[in-house]
Amino acid sequence: MTSSLRFLMCPPDHYDVDYVINPWMEGNIHKSSRDRAAEQWQKLHHIIQDHAIVDLVNPQVGIPDMVFTANAGLVLGKTVVLSRFFHKERQGEEPFFKQWFEENGYTVYELPKDLPFEGAGDALLDREGRWLWAGYGFRSELDSHPYLAKWLDIEVVSLRLMDERFYHLDTCFCPLNNGYLLYYPPAFDAYSNRMIEMRVPQSKRIAIAEPDAVTFACNAVNIENIVILNQASDDLKQRLTKAGFRVIETPLTEFLKAGGASKCLTLRVTEPVRVELHGSASIESRTVRLEGHLLDSGLINQALDVIIEAGGSFQVLNFNLGEQRQSTSSAEVKVTAPSHDLMETIMSQLIDLGALPPPQELCNCQLETVVQAGVSPDDFYVTTIYPTEVRLDDRWVKVEKQRMDAAIVFTDKGSRPQCKLLRDLEVGDQLVVGVEGIRTIRKTESREQRNTQEFSFMGAGVSSERRVELVVEQIAWELRQIRDQGGKVVVTAGPVVIHTGGGEHLAQLVREGYVQALLGGNAIAVHDMEQSIMGTSLGVDMKRGVSVRGGHRHHLKVINAVRRSGSIAQAVEQGIVRSGIFYECVRHNIPFSLAGSIRDDGPLPDTQMDLIKAQEDYTRLIEGADMILMLSSMLHSIGVGNMTPAGVRMVCVDINPAVVTKLSDRGSVESVGVVTDVGLFLSLLVQQLDKLTSPYQAVERV
Ligand code: ARG
Repeated sequence: MTSSLRFLMCPPDHYDVDYVINPWMEGNIHKSSRDRAAEQWQKLHHIIQDHAIVDLVNPQVGIPDMVFTANAGLVLGKTVVLSRFFHKERQGEEPFFKQWFEENGYTVYELPKDLPFEGAGDALLDREGRWLWAGYGFRSELDSHPYLAKWLDIEVVSLRLMDERFYHLDTCFCPLNNGYLLYYPPAFDAYSNRMIEMRVPQSKRIAIAEPDAVTFACNAVNIENIVILNQASDDLKQRLTKAGFRVIETPLTEFLKAGGASKCLTLRVTEPVRVELHGSASIESRTVRLEGHLLDSGLINQALDVIIEAGGSFQVLNFNLGEQRQSTSSAEVKVTAPSHDLMETIMSQLIDLGALPPPQELCNCQLETVVQAGVSPDDFYVTTIYPTEVRLDDRWVKVEKQRMDAAIVFTDKGSRPQCKLLRDLEVGDQLVVGVEGIRTIRKTESREQRNTQEFSFMGAGVSSERRVELVVEQIAWELRQIRDQGGKVVVTAGPVVIHTGGGEHLAQLVREGYVQALLGGNAIAVHDMEQSIMGTSLGVDMKRGVSVRGGHRHHLKVINAVRRSGSIAQAVEQGIVRSGIFYECVRHNIPFSLAGSIRDDGPLPDTQMDLIKAQEDYTRLIEGADMILMLSSMLHSIGVGNMTPAGVRMVCVDINPAVVTKLSDRGSVESVGVVTDVGLFLSLLVQQLDKLTSPYQAVERV
C-alpha cells in the first residue's frame, strides 16, 4: 500500500438512476440494482484500499449521484476548487462536499455563481504534475479555467469535448504514470487533439477505439503502475501491459447506467504540488460590441454561434434591447478562447459580422511589411465582400477595391488602403495583420429584407411558378431603371442558356441595351455561334429539339470557322456569325470576356487561357456594376461573386438549388436566388420587359 496516497469515495447507499442528465442515463431510470451496485462498489473499494487509504464521505438521501466523488472538486496540495454543478439535479451535493473538505483541512475556493465546473471529472493533472488538463464543452465552462490556473497556481491546458457521450474529461481521457496518456481522440475537437499531440509524444499516447471507449476504459484509476477499470479489450490490455502497466478489471456495470465508472467513483485527495512550477492559462478574453437588429436579423445568434463553433465561450455582459420594431439593439459580449490563435480566428469572424471593440479598447491596425513578392506574412486579415475600414492615426479609413479573399495593403506611405490579391503583393507593401483596428460595415438588415432574400430557395428549394413570375417582374423593373439611368448590368452566362433556348432572349437583352458587359467561358460563345451558324446547340436542333446526325461535330466546325476568321468580332464582320448573343455584343460594342478552362475545345481565339489575365479582365468589367445577372454558370458566377463587393445587386438563376444557395448565401441583402430553368426565366424576363413600355407605368404596377 502506498500509505501517503488517499482517495475519497462515497458509499452507494442512496445511489440510483433518478433522472437523465447524460446520454447513458437515458432509458435507465430505476434500472440499476442497488445490491449489485453495492457489491461492485465494495469490490472497487477493496482494490483501491490495497494500494491507498480510502476516506469516505457520508451519502445523502435524494442526491444519488453523490457516489461520483470525482465531481466533488479539484484538489491540488491542500487547496480545492469546489465544483459548481451544471445541472440543478447535482447542485445539492455541493454543501456536503464543501463540508468534507473544510473538515479535512483544505482551503476551499468557490467559483462565481453560474460558472459551472465539475471538479476532477473535468480536470486531470498530468501524472508528473507538470500541468492540468481541463475539459470544457458540456459540464464545465471555459471561463472557469483561468480561476483554476490562478487558485492552484498551475498551467492549464483547455481541451474541448465534442461527443455528448463523453461529457466529462475523465470519460475519455486518462493521464497515466510515466507520461503515458490513455484517451479516445474522437471525443475532442481538432484543435484539442493537436494540443494533446504537442504535449504527449506518440510513443506515450495510447489512443483507444470506440468499443473500449464506450465501456469506459478511459475512466480508469491509475496508482503507480496499476490501472483499475471496468473492462478493456484484449488488445488494449496488451498495449497497457507493454507500456508497463498492470490492468485490474472490476465490473462497474451498474454505475455505467449513470454514465460513470471507476475514476468517477473516486477522488484522489492527495496531489503533490510542484513548487517550481507556476500558474498560467493560455486562455484569452476580449470584449466586443454588436449593434443592429440583433434579434430580428439573427445577428446575435450568428455571433454567439461563431464563438462556440470555433471552440470559444462567451458571456453577454449587457444587452440593450431596441423595443420598437424599427429600433436597433446593442450588446457587449465577453469572448473567451482557449488560446491566442483561436481568439484571432473568432475575432476575425466577429469582425466580419460587424463587431467592434468597446470604445476604450480601440487601437490602430497592425501593419507588417511584405518581404517576398506574392507572399504575405502569416496572420494577414482576409477580406470579405463587406465595406471595410481600418484604423490609422486614431481615425477609420475606408479600404478601396473591396473584394473577398484579399489582403488589405498600403502600397506607399500616405496611400489609401486597398484590397490586394496575394499574388499581386509587392515587396515593401504594408499589410494589415491580426484583428486589431479593423471593422466591417454591415447594413442593418431588417426583417423584411431578410425575407425577400430567402424567398426563392427556402423549403424544398424550388420556387413556385408564381413566385418566379413575381421575382421576374421585380428584376425587369430594376433592369429598366438601371438602363434608363445609364447604369451597368453585367451578365455571367453558361452554355445552358443556349441549350435551354434562352439564347435569343439574352441576345435581345443585349440588343436593347440591358447588358453592359458579358462574362462566360468558351462554351457559351461556341454554342451561341453554333446555333447561329448551324441551328444546333451541342448538336441538338434548337427548333425541333432533336439531335442532328453527326451534330456532335458541329461545335468543332464552328470553332474552326471562328479561328479562321481570327476572332468573334471578325467572324461577325465577315458575315459568318449573323445572329445571337455574341453577334449583338459585337454589333453594340458590348465588351465580353471569355475565361478558359481545362475542358475547353478549341479554344476560340477570344478565350483567355491565362487565368490570371482572365480574372483581371473580369475584375475590370465588373467594376461599377449595379447588378450582376448570373445565368446558370456555377464556375463563372462563383468567380464573379468573389470579386464583387457587397452592395451590388446579384441575381442568380440556376436549376440547381445548391448553386443558388451558395451564391445567395453571401449574407448580403442584395443577393437573390431563383431556382428555375434559365431558358424559361429569360423568356419571362423579356416578355415582362416588353410589357413595361415606360418606367412610369412600371411604378404604377408595383
Ligand atoms: N450521472 C453523473 C452525471 O451525469 C455521472 C458522473 C460521472 N462522473 C464523472 N466524473 N465522469 O453527472
